[in-house]
Amino acid sequence: MEHFLNAMPKAELHLHIEGTLEPELMFKLAERNGIELPYSSVDQLRAAYDFGNLQDFLDPYYQGAEVLQTEQDFYDLTWAYIERCHEQNVIHIEPFFDPQTHTDRGIPFATVINGISRALEDAKTRYGISSGLIMCFLRHLSEEQAFDTLQQALPYLDRIIGIGLDSSEQGHPPTKFQRVFAKARAMGLLLVAHAGEEGPAQNVIDSLDLLHVDRIDHGVRAADDPALMRRLAEEKIALTVCPLSNTRLRVFSDMREHNILQMLAVGVKVTVNSDDPAYFGGYMTENFLALYHALNLSKEQALELTRNSFEYSFASRERKDEMLVLLNRFAA
Ligand code: HPA
Ligand code: ZN
Repeated sequence: MEHFLNAMPKAELHLHIEGTLEPELMFKLAERNGIELPYSSVDQLRAAYDFGNLQDFLDPYYQGAEVLQTEQDFYDLTWAYIERCHEQNVIHIEPFFDPQTHTDRGIPFATVINGISRALEDAKTRYGISSGLIMCFLRHLSEEQAFDTLQQALPYLDRIIGIGLDSSEQGHPPTKFQRVFAKARAMGLLLVAHAGEEGPAQNVIDSLDLLHVDRIDHGVRAADDPALMRRLAEEKIALTVCPLSNTRLRVFSDMREHNILQMLAVGVKVTVNSDDPAYFGGYMTENFLALYHALNLSKEQALELTRNSFEYSFASRERKDEMLVLLNRFAA
């Protein structure tokens, strides 16, 4: 099964590029940029990754990102993730980046996006990995700041396929960002939002009805509302679920309690993703493996989850069909 899950062609639709910063690279970049980290070793840093909830994770996560300073740093970060994708047969990716984490500490928007997008271009030419970059707004900041970030993105819209909404869900509901999402939508950008991770099912409903998102990130709390579950299935609204993230942030106390396979069984278009793999203990293959060990994931279920990732990705119809053919050939 381990070989099967690693060899299976996959797509990743919920991945924060800042969340791929492994402790080793964090130390290397800190040294390169003359930054003092509040940890004495990689092991000590890893040991600190014991989170009680989302906010417990977000604090060190934003602090860790401070080692990212130059375009080359953003390139190296993204390239390290792409190497993992290549090793794990991930053939299409839609990474998130959080420009505000960087621009708010004086790093130019251009530095961030140029480094990331150059690595994504190299991923395509060297490994055939296709991608679409999604810019997220930090929901703990104001809508005005999100508008300002959208403004800064204007010269780079050819490199951004959509916008998303991440950071602290509690206290920052989707309604706060209705106007900026309407503007992005009018600009032709695709829309996603984190909802129903720690927050209630209502945040999923509001993301659909008020933000008009094309996909929901996480969404596992939608299971609290049977009518919403029926709607998600009927309207084929995909959820980008992140199993290891959910157990590490105690959304579920144990992987055996995770509801992803129940949602799959009732026709909700769920997908498997890694969220912040450097912080949560694994990339795509490890997330599938965790479902296998805890929930006895079958090969058929793994293939169905992956079919959903290809079908509900933001790739062109042509690329989706190409990926589905590869998956069918793999399954045969
Ligand atoms: N939730 C909200 N914000 C985030 C996450 C997450 O899982 N990961 C990185 N930023
Ligand atoms: Zn996320």
